[in-house]
Amino acid sequence: MMRVLGLETSCDETGVAVYDSELGLLAHRLYSQVDLHADYGGVVPELASRDHVRKLIPLIKEVLAAAHTQPQEIDAIAYTSGPGLAGALMVGAITGRSLAYAWGVPAMGVHHMEGHLLAPLLESEKPDFPFVALLVSGGHSQLLRVDGIGCYQLLGESIDDAAGEAFDKVAKMLHLDYPGGPQVAKLALQGNANAFAFPRPMLDRPGLDFSFSGLKTAVLTAYQQTPDYDNKKADIAASFEAAIVDTLVRKCERALKQTGLKRLVMAGGVSANLRLRTQLKDLAQRKRWQVFYPSPAFCTDNGAMIAYAGCQRLLVGQQENLAVTVKPRWPM
Ligand code: KG4
Ligand code: ZN
Repeated sequence: MMRVLGLETSCDETGVAVYDSELGLLAHRLYSQVDLHADYGGVVPELASRDHVRKLIPLIKEVLAAAHTQPQEIDAIAYTSGPGLAGALMVGAITGRSLAYAWGVPAMGVHHMEGHLLAPLLESEKPDFPFVALLVSGGHSQLLRVDGIGCYQLLGESIDDAAGEAFDKVAKMLHLDYPGGPQVAKLALQGNANAFAFPRPMLDRPGLDFSFSGLKTAVLTAYQQTPDYDNKKADIAASFEAAIVDTLVRKCERALKQTGLKRLVMAGGVSANLRLRTQLKDLAQRKRWQVFYPSPAFCTDNGAMIAYAGCQRLLVGQQENLAVTVKPRWPM
């Protein structure tokens, strides 16, 4: 049995959780800095670090109380050590390492994307290995073959923008608030997805890589060339969302065919997208595949996925030394 405190501070959310290898997730809290960065249209790294410093310890105290856990009952601490904003990562890393040193327990740096990847395993209905994972966040878009904890084979990835980044950039073009993905999705509900024929990038070529920068340019051109664009914003959002979701779904289909696997797992911020979830579910039903995704709170950044990923690594005996390092850039 192992009880792990997880800390996530790689970007603009302070996430804390306690995960127990036998009892499951005991408590989790998330403090979002969205309001802090909203006026700037994106995350301001210095402000993010300062806010993590302010919030992290109170949040840890709150989560331990909610988990009915005393510090001496924590067996290890997991924190996000990359990729992400260097200053923001350091707040979680130094807090996690210091607490671990004081409490006499091991600490483990976790890859943020491995956290996302394993988040679906926090659910009661969770996938068995092996599976194909569609990992789509603000910084990454990848298809992976997952054979077990730490056994990840990259099948394809975005050669330019990540899917979430494309959502965020389109949101900016349409003068929507940051963070853009949920705003585009909300506006798309009122629009006609067939109003604009946006490209489905890379579907004409074999392979499992993605490219979203051409789609982004097509949206910009449509926006600039539509005289009454204010009335067409919802149509543009819906047509863009349809194009990106179509592309992701078709690539998943290809990845399952190529690997011969019948189990698909999606994770990362964009997996919160309702159109994507619905379309993958429909496809899976037709093909008799299984599909899994995290509950919405665990699609985007959170402490639970870090506690879980750290716990799995610690359970197989992995260890790290006391020197604190963060890796702002870190391939998985
Ligand atoms: O995984 P995440 O929270 O952070 C990263 O590790 O990047 O993902 C954030 C990304 C953002 O680009 C955000 O716009 C996108 O996920 N996102 C969505 C939705 N919710 C979040 N994109 C489309 N539809 C959504 N409902
Ligand atoms: Zn993330």
